Amino acid sequence: MPAMLGKLKLQRPLVAAAGTAGTGWELGEVLALHHLGAVTTKSITREARSGNAPMRVAELPTGMLNAVGLANPGIAGFLSDHRPRLEHLDCPVIGSVAGASIDDYVFVAEALASSGLAAIECNVSCPNTGDGRLFSEDAPALKSLVQAVRSATGKIPLLVKLPLDFQPRSEAAIAAIEGGADVLTLTNTVPGMAIDPATRRPRLGKGAGGVSGPGIHPMVVRMVRDVHANIAADASVPIIGLGGVMNWGDAAELILAGASAVGVGTALFADPRRVVKINKGLDRWVRDQGVESVSDLVGALAS
Ligand SMILES: Cc1cc2nc3c(=O)[nH]c(=O)nc-3n(C[C@H](O)[C@H](O)[C@H](O)COP(=O)(O)O)c2cc1C
Repeated sequence: MPAMLGKLKLQRPLVAAAGTAGTGWELGEVLALHHLGAVTTKSITREARSGNAPMRVAELPTGMLNAVGLANPGIAGFLSDHRPRLEHLDCPVIGSVAGASIDDYVFVAEALASSGLAAIECNVSCPNTGDGRLFSEDAPALKSLVQAVRSATGKIPLLVKLPLDFQPRSEAAIAAIEGGADVLTLTNTVPGMAIDPATRRPRLGKGAGGVSGPGIHPMVVRMVRDVHANIAADASVPIIGLGGVMNWGDAAELILAGASAVGVGTALFADPRRVVKINKGLDRWVRDQGVESVSDLVGALAS
């Protein structure tokens, strides 16, 4: 069952989220990738990054907390060691970009686009580094960033990944669209912290981190609904709803809220084959609703 993400046609409505699928090929070793509409690379920066000190991940009753710190091989390492392995994957690859300046984003995005990836996603919402997230907190800066990446990468579909926003009209979403984003990815992890009472220390080496998984899902549903209804639908900008999707019902909620495709992150760590079940459940749901495809149910929340 295909899903439309603007000019990007996905064979399936599910997208593997950045940072949860390696650079793409690693996920392909444990899951047949035709079950996914696309896979997103971990965020790639200009220089290689070793990431934060351990522990980088902690389990929570409602998901997980991480502060990986954008560990990645850098654009040169990605192009030499990983890009060739993405050539024959069974689904398109979205290249995720992170950086500390507009120059960084443009440099990496241009290189990823020239390497022939299917789309670019600008991650301006990582809570675990002190840099990229600043863009999503400063609407004019975000608009300039998206404009610069847009003009450097030509016609390649451009996704912008935003943080959770509690405002009914997200300034960041408006800025991203005004800057030329083709798709919004909503959302990244939510800032959080866990403390071990025995040692009195934070459970992550960095102290705080980002929460993902079922605990953030209702907040993401609400944001997708708000951004779709108040901003994105009018601008014809599709949304990837991403946060806490563990089963087909979670995915269906995001579609009804206004997502044209659904991201899966933490669920891949629990069991990558969950996506097979989610697809089956969505197919059944579409049939039961008496429509042709998920596209007919995007934003179709009954009042
Ligand atoms: C271990 C881990 C690493 C992540 N790394 C990235 C990353 O490199 N870039 C990015 O944009 N998001 C990253 N994310 C955020 C996910 O892509 C996703 O937005 C978030 O986890 C919410 O989705 P989920 O609840 O389905 O996991 C990471 C998440 C986790 C759990």
